[in-house]
Amino acid sequence: MQTSISAELRRRFTQAKRVLVLTGAGVSAESGVPTFRGGGQTAVWKGMPFDVISSGEMLERNLPAVWEWFDYRRGVLSSLEPNPAHYEIAGWQDQFPEFTLVTQNVDGLHQKAGSRDVIELHGNVWRARCTVCRLHHDMAQSTRPEACPSCGNAFRPDVVLFGEMLPPGAFELASSKAAECDLCFVIGTSALVYPAAGLPKIAKQAGAYICEINPERTPLSDLCDEVITGKAGEVVTQISK
Ligand code: APR
Repeated sequence: MQTSISAELRRRFTQAKRVLVLTGAGVSAESGVPTFRGGGQTAVWKGMPFDVISSGEMLERNLPAVWEWFDYRRGVLSSLEPNPAHYEIAGWQDQFPEFTLVTQNVDGLHQKAGSRDVIELHGNVWRARCTVCRLHHDMAQSTRPEACPSCGNAFRPDVVLFGEMLPPGAFELASSKAAECDLCFVIGTSALVYPAAGLPKIAKQAGAYICEINPERTPLSDLCDEVITGKAGEVVTQISK
C-alpha cells in the first residue's frame, strides 16, 4: 500500500505539458459531502436508493419528489466549503501549458475553490434547466421559478440522472483532452460509472502516466501506473511539494 508520492510522479509532475484530472465524490468527502458508495454504503433518500430517486424514470413519474431530493442536497451543500484538495487542484490550472479538470461532482465546490472551465460530466445542483427549451437558471443566486420564462414549461435539476445522457459535448471534450494528456490523475471516484470511468483508459492508451488517489482500490487501480492510498485532501497537497 503506497501512501507517499513517488520520485517518478514528482518528476512527471514538474515536466508535464498536458494534465487531466478526473474527480469524483471522494474529493468532496472531506468537505462533508456524502459519497454515493465507498465504505460499503450506498446513499438512501426516504427509503429509496439514490439511484432510484436520481433517475430519469423518477423525473418522468414524480418531478416534485426529485426536486425535493435536490433541494435537500443543495441545503446540505450550502454550508459546505471546498477542502485543501479543491484549492490545490485549482492552483494547478495555471501551472501547466494545458490543464483539464473533469468532474463527476455536481456540488460546484471545484468552482468555489477557483477552478475555471470545469467539465461537469453530470451537471450541477446549483442550476435548473427547462424540460423543453433547455433554458438554464442559476439557483446559486435565486430560487427556481415555477415555470420557464421563455416557454412556460417546467424546470428540472440540471443534473444527469441515472438512465440519462450526459450534457451535449461534455464527454467528447473530456475524451479528446484525455487522448492528448501526458499525466492523468484519478481522484476520489469508485470508477464504477461510465462513460466517466472510461477517461483514464483513453489517457492510458495515449501513453499518459495514470495516478489514482483513493483510500480504497477501484476497478481502475490495476490500470494505473501509481496508486496512492489515502484521502485527497492529505495526498493532493503533497504532490507539488
Ligand atoms: N479522498 C479520496 N477518495 C475518497 C475519500 C477521500 N477523502 N473518501 C472516499 N473516497 C473514495 C471512495 O473510496 C470511493 O471510491 O471516493 C469514491 C466515491 O465513490 P462514489 O460514491 O461511487 O462516487 P463517484 O465515483 O463520484 O460516483 C460516480 O455515480 O452516483 C453517481 O452521478 C453520481 O457522479 C456520481 C457517479
